[in-house]
Amino acid sequence: MTVRVVCPGSFDPMHAGHLDVFTRAAERFDEVVVAVVDNPNKQAMFDLDERLAFIKEQTAQLDNVRAAPFEGLLVDFCVANDISLICKGLRGVTDFEYELQMAHMNRQLAGVETIFLPSTPSSSHLSSSLIKEVARLGGTISGMLPEPIEAALLQRLQQR
Ligand code: PNS
Repeated sequence: MTVRVVCPGSFDPMHAGHLDVFTRAAERFDEVVVAVVDNPNKQAMFDLDERLAFIKEQTAQLDNVRAAPFEGLLVDFCVANDISLICKGLRGVTDFEYELQMAHMNRQLAGVETIFLPSTPSSSHLSSSLIKEVARLGGTISGMLPEPIEAALLQRLQQR
């Protein structure tokens, strides 16, 4: 039986912690779909196509990983793509409370289960929003993102 999992998120932009989760999921499951939410109400630094392109580029070596956009309910995307498992990274207790609530909701809505991969300690403090804030305020973000994404982020900030 093929086990296909989804790693969903905003990925604005994807960072080293995300890549760690995609890689570890790819080692453990047959297929990994990185699902990038298209939420027109949320102002993103990178548009959907840019966020997808970053993920495709950074996971190009992982044969069983693909990136796809989604809108609406995640469970609808799961059902439409024959996915029965959501795979998410867990950085700490704050993540856990919110993630647990969503996991229960997704299971009630469509029987889709969630599994969590504990963050690698070296990336357990990373979040896209915090990285953007640090960069905006002039702090160094090197090592937090793949290099091409770091360069794109810094360039985007300069354009503003
Ligand atoms: O990277 P993020 O912003 O923390 O990702 C959150 C995301 C996109 C995974 C979550 O908001 C989501 O699943 N949104 C889709 C809409 C949905 O299904 N909402 C009900 C969740 S129980």
